[in-house]
Amino acid sequence: MIKACIFDLDGVIVDTAKYHYLAWKKLADELGINFTLEDNERLKGVSRMQSLEIILELGNLKLDEKEKEVLAEKKNKWYVEYISRMGKSEIFPGVEAFIDILRENNIKTAIASASKNTRIILERLDLEKKFDVIIDGTMISKAKPDPEIFLKAAEYLKVQPNECVVFEDAVAGVEAAKRVGMKVIGVGDPDILKDAHTVIQSFEGLDLSIIYNL
Ligand code: BG6
Ligand code: MG
Repeated sequence: MIKACIFDLDGVIVDTAKYHYLAWKKLADELGINFTLEDNERLKGVSRMQSLEIILELGNLKLDEKEKEVLAEKKNKWYVEYISRMGKSEIFPGVEAFIDILRENNIKTAIASASKNTRIILERLDLEKKFDVIIDGTMISKAKPDPEIFLKAAEYLKVQPNECVVFEDAVAGVEAAKRVGMKVIGVGDPDILKDAHTVIQSFEGLDLSIIYNL
């Protein structure tokens, strides 16, 4: 019995993944580190600091904590500049209609995102009211693939993990949800998200059958 749907934000509800990439790419260029779109897959779903660690590792660069904080802050400033220009047109097609179907059918909805910018984004897109619960990067201590964020979402929603379906675009997120017995719908490339129970490319035309036929 599915009682709730939990959505990742970046790359699922809205294409902020491209802004994360652009901001990290700008930083990597400044540091003289070669950073590709393929490398960027490893950054999806992981925290800001862990993302920086991955980039520094690609460039074989060792920095102290203070220097790392300065760089992470710099990237975030660029990123916030990008997202502050976003509008509702950047919400992925079909997302709002699908969430409305869920709510009309008494299925609870939550956001579970590692991003500390979650609230800014939801506010910017006028989406806050569509979710019963919002868990963001300021409320967790362990990043995906640790399931902490999804367990917290289930707890706040007052449902059991096996009553939840998670929508995820990140390999780390798929793993996190599966670890606690949640069903996972991958959003994106089936070759990359091969461990998900099923994969969709878009929310357009989606109805309840997608979650009941998992
Ligand atoms: C996740 C993104 O949702 O949030 C990651 O997939 C990102 O790419 C992480 O690093 C943290 O985001 P922020 O906005 O707190 O830097
Ligand atoms: Mg994501």
